[in-house]
Amino acid sequence: MAGPEPPSVAPLSLAESATDTASKAHEQEINPWDVQAATDEQGNTLAFDYAAISAKWNTSLINSTLLERFERVTGRKPHRWLRRGLFFSHRDLDRILDIYERGETFLLYTGRGPSSGSMHIGHAIPFEFTKYMQDVFDVPLVIMLTDDEKFLFKEKLTQPEVYQFARDNAKDIISIGFDVKKTFIYIDSEFFTSGYNRHFSLNATEFEKLITNNQVRGAFGFDGSTNVGSNAFAAKQCVAAFASSYPFIFGEQCTSYHRSKKLAAMACLIPCAIDQDPYFRLVRENCSRMDQPSPKPALIHSKFLTSLQGAGGKMSASNPNSAIYLSDTEKQIKNKINKHAFSGGQETLELHRELGGNPDIDVAFQYLSYFEDDDDKLATFAEQYRKGVMLTGDMKKECVGMMTAYVQGFQAARVKVTEEILEEFMRPRKLEWRGNPNPTKKVGAGSGAGTVGEEAKGVDGEKGPSKNAAKKAAKLAEIERKKREKEAAKK
Ligand code: TYM
Repeated sequence: MAGPEPPSVAPLSLAESATDTASKAHEQEINPWDVQAATDEQGNTLAFDYAAISAKWNTSLINSTLLERFERVTGRKPHRWLRRGLFFSHRDLDRILDIYERGETFLLYTGRGPSSGSMHIGHAIPFEFTKYMQDVFDVPLVIMLTDDEKFLFKEKLTQPEVYQFARDNAKDIISIGFDVKKTFIYIDSEFFTSGYNRHFSLNATEFEKLITNNQVRGAFGFDGSTNVGSNAFAAKQCVAAFASSYPFIFGEQCTSYHRSKKLAAMACLIPCAIDQDPYFRLVRENCSRMDQPSPKPALIHSKFLTSLQGAGGKMSASNPNSAIYLSDTEKQIKNKINKHAFSGGQETLELHRELGGNPDIDVAFQYLSYFEDDDDKLATFAEQYRKGVMLTGDMKKECVGMMTAYVQGFQAARVKVTEEILEEFMRPRKLEWRGNPNPTKKVGAGSGAGTVGEEAKGVDGEKGPSKNAAKKAAKLAEIERKKREKEAAKK
């Protein structure tokens, strides 16, 4: 595991020194509102340097040891995005595996800032992955739609507009296939004005008191001219990671003023692209200071699905040819890929046959590497492309077929999402989940699978150990975990 996290007051930009004015070079910039790859002296966009951002922010890279343990503990083959390093980094994922092994519940949490009516395929990545994690771990999931965030940060958007985007995006997200019994989706402006947000709101106010303007400015690059709402918003995305913000999910009252200590102690896992990490560094630094302390939320970070223009490019709503949208037609997808997808092939057919292409920078191949599940097929494409046997046109054809099938599958599910289904996902209610059906470690501190406050039960259904024994076992597990991390680091 990585060492202590850098304080969130550390500037976000990898450019510690001023931009070189003589050349067009600038360093990469990654934060929740601005994701820009570095450029070289001639102003050419370079690929994102994920190892650098992981080192800078002290996250742990996902390695084969962790993936082997993931497979052993869950009995599930790691998702192709884990196998291929597209989800490349984490914080405390190993702790989540410990929790799962003990048969305890944890909260899955992810979100979307509804800045437009339709999401692009990049936005689908964390949700597809979250769905996989929900299937693997069988735990409750909350999905936060931050219409307040987008209203505060986007000058031109009005509140009714972002609210409508949020509803449309929520339908998109539901179409990915989440199980309504285990999933609560909420739109901030609606949830925060309902009768169910009391504990969320108390958590947010307490957290706002713990963090200073300087911390928020440092983490997000704000200055004195940033509106007050943007400064305050961070606390909301942060406390959304506390299970105690949603007592109703666990069958607990939210009318009482007092928040549940047991829920506060529940772990949380957040899948997202690496740009969202600054929020959660802020939570990780301050969660132990809450009156009812929460553990540091765990994270699993993805790389960015590149724009059609190639490595380092940004998918942007203002340039429809930069991305494939989940609302695109078959014709649009074909045109976008054929006309705009950056090719790693050679300039002429003869040169391509002679020298071969480079799949690593070929956008059609990159998209296939996200969506083609067959590892062997993908490896064959890469090999044939490198040899010049497979041409750019062939690769694009494969990509058009794959992306059309994905988007059409999505759209077929999307038309079935009615207003009633949306309302059911957004209804504050007790969720139902089973957790680990076969916990292997009887170390049940915290909630049992599916039932808050119940001690974890062993394979044979016995009650878990006493509180002290549980504490001791948790300590031992922590020592064991650190040992494993050290060994992995040495390797
Ligand atoms: P937003 O709407 O910017 O992005 C939603 C999710 O999509 C990820 N993402 C991408 N992943 C892969 N490739 C891309 N090209 C790409 N572009 C965006 C983002 O990292 C994010 O996971 N403030 C948040 C909303 C939010 C949230 C959360 C996100 C609230 N709570 C918890 C993640 C986890 C936002 O505006 O996301």
